[in-house]
Amino acid sequence: MITPASSSALDPALDMVIFGGAGDLSARKLLPALYMAHLHDSLPAETRIIAVGRADWTREQYLNFVEERSRPFVDNHALNDQAWESFLARFDYARVDISVADTYGHLAEKTRGDALRVFYLATAPNLFETVCDNLAACGLIDDRARVVLEKPLGHDLASAKAINASVGRHFPEDRIYRIDHYLGKETVQNLMVLRFGNAIFGPLWQAPYIRSVQITVAESVGVGSRAGFYDGTGAMRDMIQNHLLQLLCIVAMEPPVSLDPDAVRDEKLKVLRSLRPMTIETISRDTVRGQYAAGAVDGESVKGYLDEAGVPAGSVTETFVALRAQLNNWRWANVPFFLRTGKRLRDRRSEIVIEFADMPFSIIPRGPYAHANRLVIQLQPEESIQLQMLAKEPGSGMHVLPVSLNLDLQQALAGRRAEAYERLLVDVIRGRLTHFMRCDELEAAWAWVEPILSGWKALGDKPRSYISGTYGPAASSALMARENMVWAEEA
Ligand code: BG6
Repeated sequence: MITPASSSALDPALDMVIFGGAGDLSARKLLPALYMAHLHDSLPAETRIIAVGRADWTREQYLNFVEERSRPFVDNHALNDQAWESFLARFDYARVDISVADTYGHLAEKTRGDALRVFYLATAPNLFETVCDNLAACGLIDDRARVVLEKPLGHDLASAKAINASVGRHFPEDRIYRIDHYLGKETVQNLMVLRFGNAIFGPLWQAPYIRSVQITVAESVGVGSRAGFYDGTGAMRDMIQNHLLQLLCIVAMEPPVSLDPDAVRDEKLKVLRSLRPMTIETISRDTVRGQYAAGAVDGESVKGYLDEAGVPAGSVTETFVALRAQLNNWRWANVPFFLRTGKRLRDRRSEIVIEFADMPFSIIPRGPYAHANRLVIQLQPEESIQLQMLAKEPGSGMHVLPVSLNLDLQQALAGRRAEAYERLLVDVIRGRLTHFMRCDELEAAWAWVEPILSGWKALGDKPRSYISGTYGPAASSALMARENMVWAEEA
């Protein structure tokens, strides 16, 4: 049984204030992550968690919510009564109507003047400005205050800029934590170590030694109960604009001069700025939108997107995107980056595949194996790295076969792997900004994505239907076949 160790008495007191404290994200992700941080002694001893909500609840009523809605999301092995009780003891509840300034007094009464104040805004982004204005009006924003912004961080470039401007009026950039939970994943952080801690990849990590890069984030789940949000959003805004572009940045960036937040973020920004802008012509050639139809996933039949609860009839929202991106810089000249994400695909699998170029001249007969070397970095569900190469088949002759050097990171490295939200929340408390997006990064990502969204509109592009449980529309394979390439699972 794990019991919480005693937290460092030297840490300043912490008031973690969660706007949207009775929302789904809090129940499923934030509170379980805070419990784990509590259990593993990563919260300052004097931590209080103040949930903010509209409901006229007492503290006890909120604790019932935590018990009923959040506890089921805590890993069973980590639950023990003593730790859970001491976790609950940290809670308070403040009833605040976000748009009514007078009601913020309830919150002000509960915060402590000398504590580090973290305001976690897990609300719709159109409320960020009002929350910040009202917090400022009741004197809660000073140099002890930090703000965490939950996605979606905008719907397009203008709205992202508006968020940056309105939050930036009250908080300096070094106290704004824009969450992209992919940056909190152990495996994603490990990518930096793989690239910048291992000299063997250094010289090869560029054109012309790399032929292509594939980044896939496949989900087997459908839209679930989120149609209200998702239908106005789609896969491009929900996944590509943030998670996949962040992965691309980590794969493609130049070595930063250090792990300092701005050193890393400067390099990521350069990658985003070097993305070749798409034109109407390249949009129709290099992007594929899809929408799932009924099918079967994990042996169970599932509905099509249009039959999901809350999806408007005839919706043309995409649940799948595949695209070919290109970076306009020396390192990556002419190396295509294929990005793909979708819901209701065959399985949950996130991976990055680096396909190395052929040798300039080969004396070894290759048989059917067109490409000798691939580095496959699997991020989810298992954490592994495979280096595929050709080897001689035992026996006479020089027949070659593909074989893999397999590194199962979970087996190789014992130790607890914290969930992304736990790691990121602890980073906020410790003031570590490296794994959060800076305002210019956010805007650069939108600046590249927005013309694609408007191009689709101008083209009257409708998503192609794909059967649930497959890897998306056939056009996605055709996108690669054009260049004599295939997605990893087709190789
Ligand atoms: C979220 C998206 O940001 O990421 C969801 O809004 C998606 O639609 C989720 O399901 C995927 O995250 P993970 O960690 O399960 O890969």
